[in-house]
Amino acid sequence: MRYHILTLFPEMVSQGLHESIIGRAVDRGVISLEAVNIRDYADNEYGKVDDYPYGGGAGMVMQAEPIYRAYRAVSDRLEKPPRVLHMTPQGKVFTQQMAQEFAKEEDLIFLCGHYEGIDERVLEEIVTDNVSIGDYVLTGGELPAMVMVDAISRMVPGVLSNRESAMFDSFQDGLLEYPQYSRPRQWRGREVPEILLSGHHANVEKWRREQSLLRTKERRPDLL
Ligand code: ADE
Repeated sequence: MRYHILTLFPEMVSQGLHESIIGRAVDRGVISLEAVNIRDYADNEYGKVDDYPYGGGAGMVMQAEPIYRAYRAVSDRLEKPPRVLHMTPQGKVFTQQMAQEFAKEEDLIFLCGHYEGIDERVLEEIVTDNVSIGDYVLTGGELPAMVMVDAISRMVPGVLSNRESAMFDSFQDGLLEYPQYSRPRQWRGREVPEILLSGHHANVEKWRREQSLLRTKERRPDLL
């Protein structure tokens, strides 16, 4: 998987994604991350990429041409036209299922907006998917892009080790994950559930399944 992130804040994205599991996957070459600075594609010497909105109103609008050039700088190198995910609260709310679907792509372009918005014409020209991370408004698309890169990467073969494997995580089977315990056996008067100490594998599995169901019913009944 190769990610190409079009942004005005490339350091934010590359720094935020170079730690832990995703950072290691980049180091091992299982995924790659390219943060493209839209400002580098400005058509003026000042690197200005926004302007006042036609029709008036507060705030600035990111202009079409620098974004289009940044997009072409990436897409012209690729064999087939990539999916372009526009980070916007107006998009479809991102889910585990979408993460799995996007993980099948070879390349993904993320377009991160700022200011009041982006000139609609470049969105019409290049965007294939409008995606949101939830019904709240952020100051820019960088955090949503980082959230999605993280969730999608977990679904890319070779990113997670067997131990980290996604198979039984929350949402993977449509249920929330069962509770986990580690040493000590007793902590501040709280005991580890007896069954987990029994060594009886089948019973442990059955208990975990029940806990998953119970937890989902209690915390996220909408998932059932
Ligand atoms: N940009 C601003 N808010 C956003 C959100 N909730 N999801 C995706 N992109 C955004």
